[in-house]
Amino acid sequence: MTESTGLVDLAREASTCTRCPLSGTRTQVVFGTGDETAELFFVGEGPGHDEDLQGEPFVGRSGRLLDRLIAEELSTTRERCYIANVVKCRPPENRNPRPAEIEACRPYLDQQLAAVGPRVVVTLGNFATRLLLGTDDGIGKVRGRAYPFGSGHLVPTYHPAAALRSGGAVLAGMRADFVRAKRLLGWSS
Ligand code: URA
Repeated sequence: MTESTGLVDLAREASTCTRCPLSGTRTQVVFGTGDETAELFFVGEGPGHDEDLQGEPFVGRSGRLLDRLIAEELSTTRERCYIANVVKCRPPENRNPRPAEIEACRPYLDQQLAAVGPRVVVTLGNFATRLLLGTDDGIGKVRGRAYPFGSGHLVPTYHPAAALRSGGAVLAGMRADFVRAKRLLGWSS
């Protein structure tokens, strides 16, 4: 597991977490990774098979697409962002995280967001978007614009797995959302 200095205590606490039943089936907690002073914070759903083994978020196929979009649309690298998930432990067989699991894990994400203090949060897919926007609406309905979030902005977009499944319009939508985030950050030339 890698985590930034200011979050070390929280990551240590999380590493032995038993707040929900996912603790019984995980290999390890996937706390989060990146720059603790990042202006840009990505929130995914939960660790998959590769993440559960390696202890880092988005290191499998979805992660490779995320890295590519970060490079191509934001002209930066994952190391200059912070990346975390709604739930820190892999749901068995990659099933959806359950409401009680999301609630149990939420304090970790809230503390990560408070510690990093990003200017822009990009939510990847329905679970992160619904949790942080406090909506029941799906990603297809809410994406395409930015929302106020803390003292910054939240940009909802598709999960990279959806772009890998569907390609085409979903991938184009993700690219447009990343460009939106870049503009909000003032990184556009
Ligand atoms: N999908 C996610 O939502 N998070 C990961 O870390 C990996 C895949």
